Amino acid sequence: MDKLLIRGGAPLAGEVRVSGSKNAALPILAATLLVDDVVTLSNVPHLNDVTTMFELLGCLGVEMVLDEKMHIDIDARNITSLVAPYDLVKTMRASILVLGPLLARFGEAHVSFPGGCAIGSRPVDLHLRGLEAMGASIEIDGGYIRAKAPDGGLRAAHLLFDIVTVGGTENLMMAAALAKGTSVIENAAREPEIVDLANFINVMGGRVEGAGSDTLVVHGVESLHGGHYRVMPDRIEAGTFLAAAAATRGKVKLRDIDPHTLEAVLLKLQEAGADIQTGPDWISLDMHGKRPKAVNLRTAPYPAFPTDMQAQLTTVNAVAEGTGAVTETIFENRLIQTHELNRMGAKIILEGNTAIITGVETLKGAPVMASDLRASASLVIAGLVAKGETLVDRIYHIDRGYECIEEKLRQLGADIQRIV
Ligand code: UD1
Repeated sequence: MDKLLIRGGAPLAGEVRVSGSKNAALPILAATLLVDDVVTLSNVPHLNDVTTMFELLGCLGVEMVLDEKMHIDIDARNITSLVAPYDLVKTMRASILVLGPLLARFGEAHVSFPGGCAIGSRPVDLHLRGLEAMGASIEIDGGYIRAKAPDGGLRAAHLLFDIVTVGGTENLMMAAALAKGTSVIENAAREPEIVDLANFINVMGGRVEGAGSDTLVVHGVESLHGGHYRVMPDRIEAGTFLAAAAATRGKVKLRDIDPHTLEAVLLKLQEAGADIQTGPDWISLDMHGKRPKAVNLRTAPYPAFPTDMQAQLTTVNAVAEGTGAVTETIFENRLIQTHELNRMGAKIILEGNTAIITGVETLKGAPVMASDLRASASLVIAGLVAKGETLVDRIYHIDRGYECIEEKLRQLGADIQRIV
């Protein structure tokens, strides 16, 4: 199993390009199932989760041709299967995103029921309830969700989520794109990746309105046509590099990133003492060699502070001046990396879903184990700050969501290598 060996202590410095967004690419790849024509995607990141989605689409009979620049031609005209198998769904929960499109275009789908994961139970009840409201019949049988549209296809519905769900909003937006009539989705997620998915659907001839607000209006169309779409930049990858620079008292510039998608994170980093400058497609951060100051934060749906940046800011707090409280409100088990940070000398106490973090001057290198994607990123940041060597184990988690992480960090001056 691959590990990352990090010799920490040096501030990150330099410039790096932000990759395409994982959390936008996955739903957009699923949405290509809606299209009865060839779609070309660019800026798709080269990541294990994306490879898993390719495998899943391949299983369904989708043909894909990839060039060296990761431009992908995707042809979902001749689907041969409507089954998303257990082996793929268990490695990536986002596989559930094929359910809405398959049901909308082909009237039937069998998708393995996703289980829990390291960060919590993560149910999909809201996805299923929404599809039922559109007329689908849903049965759970043999560990599979067996969904069938009514005769004549899915019907538009008025949907309201009692919890804001990113994946639920995406699945139902895709289903509604080909349903009969106009659907309304209330208390929709407002994440930039939702906007990217809506833009994709609209470029292919769909009619989604209101993306980025809490009410989506989706006018169903007969069919979608082909076209080209460029996936948005990864705001979480960008935020991770900024947090790494803040923790190491460094100075970095990120290119190919829309600063508006990171406002809550930039505000917290400024509060931590970072000098942040932004342009239309870049962000720079300079700590002027100073130690960060502790910040309090609470995760919540966009535009508030993202749960996917919580672990990274917890590490910044771990080496900050003062005491900070970090409250996780989205996933119940997403503070577990704090135990590994304590093994590196951090002073973190957990009280329910809040971590109370008393900053220490520096951390000490240690062997640590990653438990999920963003937790692994936070351990890499801790390794970059720590004195001595840190060996981060189980980095298959990090390869799910960070493109060329060690190359990019080396570009910023980090001493990091992969041990296979
Ligand atoms: C997506 C992101 C993930 C991010 C999360 C929250 C992708 C591929 N993943 O995950 O990186 O951390 O949004 O920003 O984009 N819930 C239910 N019932 C449901 C669906 C969700 O109770 O049917 C709950 C979840 O357990 C969780 C909350 O709603 O507590 C939010 O989850 P959701 O927004 O759906 O997360 P994902 O789409 O799985």
